[in-house]
Amino acid sequence: MSRTPAYAAELRTALSRAARGVDERELTRATEALVSRYRSVAPASAPILASRVHVAAYAAYRMPATHAALSRVMADLADRGLAPRSLLDLGGGTGAAAWAAAGAFDSLESVTVLDQVEDALTLGRDLVADAASPALRGATFRRAVAGAWPQLEADLVTVSYVLSELDERQQDGLVADAMRLGRAVVVAEPGTPDGYARVLRVRSALLAAGWTLLGPCPHSMECPLAQGDWCHFAARVSRSAEHRRLKGAELSYEDEKFSWVAAAAPGVLDSPTREAISGRILRHPLKRKGLVEFQVCRPDGTAGREVVSKKAGERYRRARDAEWGDALP
Ligand SMILES: C[S@@+](CC[C@H](N)C(=O)[O-])C[C@H]1O[C@@H](n2cnc3c(N)ncnc32)[C@H](O)[C@@H]1O
Repeated sequence: MSRTPAYAAELRTALSRAARGVDERELTRATEALVSRYRSVAPASAPILASRVHVAAYAAYRMPATHAALSRVMADLADRGLAPRSLLDLGGGTGAAAWAAAGAFDSLESVTVLDQVEDALTLGRDLVADAASPALRGATFRRAVAGAWPQLEADLVTVSYVLSELDERQQDGLVADAMRLGRAVVVAEPGTPDGYARVLRVRSALLAAGWTLLGPCPHSMECPLAQGDWCHFAARVSRSAEHRRLKGAELSYEDEKFSWVAAAAPGVLDSPTREAISGRILRHPLKRKGLVEFQVCRPDGTAGREVVSKKAGERYRRARDAEWGDALP
């Protein structure tokens, strides 16, 4: 799997073009306000992206990270044989999931992003104006509010970093809507204990409805992670100079932690070519001389240690390249 998402550079160029003309001090203040709001994890009684400057701040400091996380997810699903022709992104904001899907799926022909904040949709539209991907360039950005989505069906529906802004009843309603509108669904959340708890709830709803899990779990039994642990992954995001300035950060990269679940409706993706994965890597692998040690979630519903030694030949060579979040080679 490529570690640099397709279109990351193109998105970066579009983002820096969009940031021109926005007052630097206002942008910094809005970034600080968003950072502290997203830390609080409480349902929002009014849109958090409250103005054009908040939207610009979100796009500059958060979108590269949500795009990087979603790109890992989409690449994983593409490896598993998912090839959606249409994408519907609920609460899609400035379009991070659309960029990630266009980068992973050559099959993608149509993209619709729905959100309650008009300014986010306007910026999303500006960002894709010169995109190389025809699906992205032709994307529709349309205003809609959770609970009253237009009746648009799609091969893939994404709900990315939205649930934490809703109460539990609204979260359940949004997931039910995603399942009603999509043949496959991806939900991503911050890789925190409470983000994982929300993802686990979504996983239960998907399984209760008879959907087939596509990832990250290699099984549909109870999650084996012990109390105090949580299933999450990391995507590396390179920070532009603008990004570093806004966050007052020095490092040229950050690691975005995320939790996710994806599933397909009954009858979708039951092709004989789809192979079950042999495990999911839950931590950074320990690479020592002649062996690689993994913490994995296994297809039998357990989690624990797996070692691949040099004797395994080709499997060992693939194990050396494997990373946290990948399928176990
Ligand atoms: C943290 S942002 C995530 C944006 C985008 N999905 C991403 O991954 O970068 C949450 C988005 O959900 C949207 N949202 C929250 N509640 C909503 C609602 N009730 N109806 C429609 N959109 C909503 C917000 O306007 C915002 O754009």
